[in-house]
Amino acid sequence: MPFQEETLENKTYIVTGGASGIGRATAVLLSARGANVVVADADVDAGTAAAESIGPHVAFVETALESVDSLTALVSRTVELFGSVDGLANVAAVHRGGSFLDTTVSDWDTVEQINHRAVFFLSQAVAKAIIEQGSQGAIVNVASGAAFRPVPDQSAYSGSKGGVVALTRSLAGELAPHGIRVNLVSPGHTATESVLETLTDEQLGAVADKLLWKRWLTPEEVAESIVFLLSDLSRGMTGATVMVNQGDLMPH
Ligand SMILES: NC(=O)c1ccc[n+]([C@@H]2O[C@H](COP(=O)([O-])OP(=O)(O)OC[C@H]3O[C@@H](n4cnc5c(N)ncnc54)[C@H](O)[C@@H]3O)[C@@H](O)[C@H]2O)c1
Repeated sequence: MPFQEETLENKTYIVTGGASGIGRATAVLLSARGANVVVADADVDAGTAAAESIGPHVAFVETALESVDSLTALVSRTVELFGSVDGLANVAAVHRGGSFLDTTVSDWDTVEQINHRAVFFLSQAVAKAIIEQGSQGAIVNVASGAAFRPVPDQSAYSGSKGGVVALTRSLAGELAPHGIRVNLVSPGHTATESVLETLTDEQLGAVADKLLWKRWLTPEEVAESIVFLLSDLSRGMTGATVMVNQGDLMPH
């Protein structure tokens, strides 16, 4: 196949967590490249505002990732709105629990349901829809450095993201015969709204000081790689882990 120009016209993508941060930046970029986008998020105000401001072919679908029924309804609604579904970015995630010794069953369940189980069953619903359409597609999951090295007080989150790493590779194998590629983006420290709301300027600066570029990544810098992996430009890739982290996990 010759070199291709990148256009996502007539393609439809679901972005979980599309109301803010990396998810929102992914929705913006997909829309700018001509795709139809479904912003799937629990935050109705932010999700509605995001869909309205991003573009005409962007819809918000209220989604509770902890409910498997909500995930299948999301895929049906997407097909109803745009006629098909071509890909999925599993971006949303939450942190709960704090220290390992203090983490409760309820915290662990919440983190697993949103960060891991939803990735499993939403990918399953999207894959079934793509197979039924007789088309091909792409899924991009989002991990974290916490899946690859110890981070204090994030054991539930780290475990859920480790699950996403393994799941990505497993699905890349299982879905290959169906023409569905599955890849992983692992972001480094990214200055999203939730991070900026949680950390003080001093804490943000202390983290930046330890990074190679002495600054946080922007959500757009991460979104570029997610969109690349959703597009045919990455058609030679599946089961890959793309570290978008300014070299943070380089062996040294
Ligand atoms: N920001 C970082 O520094 C960083 C670093 C490494 C990995 N990541 C990963 O990148 C991804 C995006 O991070 P972010 O900082 O942009 O996140 P964010 O907190 O800005 O956005 C998360 C979105 O998910 C939505 N959401 C949360 N729970 C939900 C639920 N139950 N159902 C539906 N929607 C729900 C929220 O409403 C929000 O819009 C996450 O997977 C995160 O783990 C982020």
